[in-house]
Amino acid sequence: MDGQHSSRFTVTRSSKTVAANERATLLEDPGFGRLFTDHMVTIRYTEGEGWHSHSVGPREPFQIDPACAVLHYAQEIFEGMKAYRLADGSIAMFRPEENARRFAQSAERLAMPEIPEDLFLEAVAELVKIDADWIPTGEGSLYLRPFLFASEAFLGVRPSKEYIFCVIASPAGAYFKGGKKAVTLWVSEHYTRAARGGTGAAKCGGNYAASLVAQKEATEQGCDQVVFLDAAENKWVEELGGMNVFFVMEDGSIVTPPLTGTILPGITRNSIITLARAKGHDVREEPYSFAQWRADAASGTLREAFACGTAAVVTAIGTVRSKDGDFTIGNGDGGLVTESLRGELTGIQRGTVADPAGWVHIV
Ligand code: PLP
Ligand code: COI
Repeated sequence: MDGQHSSRFTVTRSSKTVAANERATLLEDPGFGRLFTDHMVTIRYTEGEGWHSHSVGPREPFQIDPACAVLHYAQEIFEGMKAYRLADGSIAMFRPEENARRFAQSAERLAMPEIPEDLFLEAVAELVKIDADWIPTGEGSLYLRPFLFASEAFLGVRPSKEYIFCVIASPAGAYFKGGKKAVTLWVSEHYTRAARGGTGAAKCGGNYAASLVAQKEATEQGCDQVVFLDAAENKWVEELGGMNVFFVMEDGSIVTPPLTGTILPGITRNSIITLARAKGHDVREEPYSFAQWRADAASGTLREAFACGTAAVVTAIGTVRSKDGDFTIGNGDGGLVTESLRGELTGIQRGTVADPAGWVHIV
């Protein structure tokens, strides 16, 4: 279908696609973020002209000028979402319109043009369709990474007048190696992730660049992820490097940090709040201090804690490590509430559990 127009996109099939048997071998153990499909979507933006040059084509490197604005001032945003192969062979996506909306909000914060939600959704669907053979079956999924970057060659500090929107796809298995049942967290003492008025609620590359040194420290401490405290008081639990966090109390109530502009408004977080409330849990979005976390874990008031996000899905938190020592939550291996919420969420995503809120979109 070379040069064919599919809706507003020009489609050019790759002449170098990975052979079916090689792809099947790769999909047996995709890991996370290291394999990529054959194609990519690109759309260009130019001030005065708007969005143009909609293309589905072979996945290939960009040619960019050394003065390209993103390389200097990090004007870049991204999203993370997944496509699933259902038992009947159809392909589903989970609340993709929420990713489109958050992408527009991130764009606004980074002074970038907002891509219309319908165009964002169409772009993602185009890539999923052309690379559908790359969707792993079983527990795996196709992780989709839409992103937008400033592409103008100009060194003045102001919003770029040119941008490239792109979607790539990566077959994915478990985010944590070996599909760990419970992860260990390192509490960052020196580094914070975001302050009031900053970019914490936007999904921009700069937030992750700033988190890497803390994540490196976590790895050096033998931990899977870093957990950040607030920047003002260094007291309140905010979120992990790439996940939101929940606490399950002995009375069945659930606490998660509120959206005050410094943490990412996770789509998994929002879904978990809805599912937990429907199951009768009292869910409170309120500040929770690290000192309280330690005390509640010691007294048994805190029964479970878990991290959640598109990549990590729902993962129990077993042990928390800080400069003042370790503490363990429950038996260190998760718990029934975490397991039941994870089961319900993944069941809806994979079409095996009823979807009363209409979260699943068939591509
Ligand atoms: N917090 C951060 C910093 C993240 O990178 C992510 C992942 O996207 C999340 C939370 C969870 O967000 P979502 O559930 O929308 O994937
Ligand atoms: C996601 O879950 O989509 C993220 O962006 C988080 C990152 C750890 C991969």
